[in-house]
Amino acid sequence: MKINNICCIGAGYVGGPTMAVIALKCPDIKVTVVDLNADRIAAWNGPLDDLPIYEPGLAEVVQEARGKNLFFSTDIDKAIDEAQMIFMAVNTPTKTYGEGKGFAADLTFVEKCARQIAEASTTDKIVIEKSTLPVRTAEKIKEVLSSNTKGVNFEVLSNPEFLAEGTAIQDLFKSDRVLVGGDDTESGKAAVAALVSIYSNWIPKEKILTTNVWSSELSKLASNAMLAQRISSINSLSALCEKTGADIEEVSQAIGMDSRIGSKFLKSSVGFGGSCFQKDILNLVYLCRHYSLDEVAEYWHQVVKINNYQKNRFTKRIISGLNGTINQKKITLLGWAFKKDTNDTRESAAIYVADILLEEGAEVHIFDPMVKENRIRQDLTTLCEARNESKHEISVKLKRCIVHQENIGALENSFAAAILTEWDEFKFYDWNAIAEKMVQPAKVFDGRNIIENSLDYNFNLTKIGS
Ligand code: UDX
Ligand code: UDX
Repeated sequence: MKINNICCIGAGYVGGPTMAVIALKCPDIKVTVVDLNADRIAAWNGPLDDLPIYEPGLAEVVQEARGKNLFFSTDIDKAIDEAQMIFMAVNTPTKTYGEGKGFAADLTFVEKCARQIAEASTTDKIVIEKSTLPVRTAEKIKEVLSSNTKGVNFEVLSNPEFLAEGTAIQDLFKSDRVLVGGDDTESGKAAVAALVSIYSNWIPKEKILTTNVWSSELSKLASNAMLAQRISSINSLSALCEKTGADIEEVSQAIGMDSRIGSKFLKSSVGFGGSCFQKDILNLVYLCRHYSLDEVAEYWHQVVKINNYQKNRFTKRIISGLNGTINQKKITLLGWAFKKDTNDTRESAAIYVADILLEEGAEVHIFDPMVKENRIRQDLTTLCEARNESKHEISVKLKRCIVHQENIGALENSFAAAILTEWDEFKFYDWNAIAEKMVQPAKVFDGRNIIENSLDYNFNLTKIGS
């Protein structure tokens, strides 16, 4: 089947960049990205320097394809019915209620999407799971789609996204692999072939892996779990380094040079964040428990527990470094995004560090080159609300949280600076000059190990794992 019209539901961090790249690489295919959120769609149609997502290289791709064969719209039904292929890239957060609360993925949006596809479709469709979903979700989607009364045939494929934020465009251009899961039936194979032919426009054939649907769904969870496990492993060892005099950077380099281990994802940090790792591991834990695999569930759960431990440990080091009391002390957080080169803050370690510092009475000043003030306030508010704090309590607490547009105001007269995101600019600050403006003795806590060691510093530098 020759595909010439694609629709994607969900104009977020995954849907937006992925569809922009498909449109760029497949000029003969009309790609329409739809979303319930009209503001987000307006921003995708707005100025290139203010797209809803900051991602290096994205604006250039959007500029090239937008208006030619890439469109952003809120007319979801129309886009669904016109398309032969529909990607579902809506968010699948961790459930905050009911059965599986705190672990299972909330499939409300996915189900709504499937229902809308069932209702709006008058011709056959290939429906693609792009969102990360629990294993066997395709079955549920098929069931919902079968409610269509117009005799439409739906094929459901799994095509999980492996892009990392901050490098999304490069990851899409040069994917390590593209995974397509489909049914082993004639129509299933034809649907897989149709999707493979799209990716073949720029991805070498040998990098496109086809599997059954369940393997594809599980591989996404497993990849994220394995990546996060490496970070929790190195972070657990960073705690041991701090006790023994070993240096985690040296240990990481030494073990990473073993080609069986490899050097990537061994960077010790204040803890991993992002929309995927924690959510996907909790989802995996839930799945294992569901099948009564309690030991397996506990094994993976530990990866998340070590991550929480790391965020707490780092914050406690700041507090003990300031003589055990931070009440009314100005503390500056550099970085709010969960990693550099993105404005995404979901599950960022910074939120948890700031929360503990505010609980302890500190005045928390924040500077991030890409994250807007309302996002930061919203992140803290959401965390406090999840603990059932009252509106009044939250507003009183947030008065002690000050967001800055430039770094110096944030750092002046501060008792401590904590680096929470590895933005390149933080590496190149004149740290000695900054330290002079801070309360003496100035203390810098480097949660990303980006500041070089030096004997010439006029401030006290604390790094992770040394
Ligand atoms: C994606 C995946 O979908 C998720 O499963 C994965 O684990 C992380 O990446 P992401 O693109 O990062 O999610 O999410 P987000 O930026 O929140 O975008 C989702 C979009 O879907 C939002 O813009 C939201 O408005 C839209 N949406 C949600 C709909 O259009 N309809 C809905 O019913 C629900
Ligand atoms: C991840 C996966 O890498 C990607 O394949 C999947 O599609 C989505 O989830 P993402 O969350 O965008 O991507 O970013 P990633 O680069 O994996 O970083 C996640 C977190 O781990 C960040 O907070 C990052 O700072 C942290 N990290 C990463 C470390 O602390 N140390 C490392 O060595 C690597």
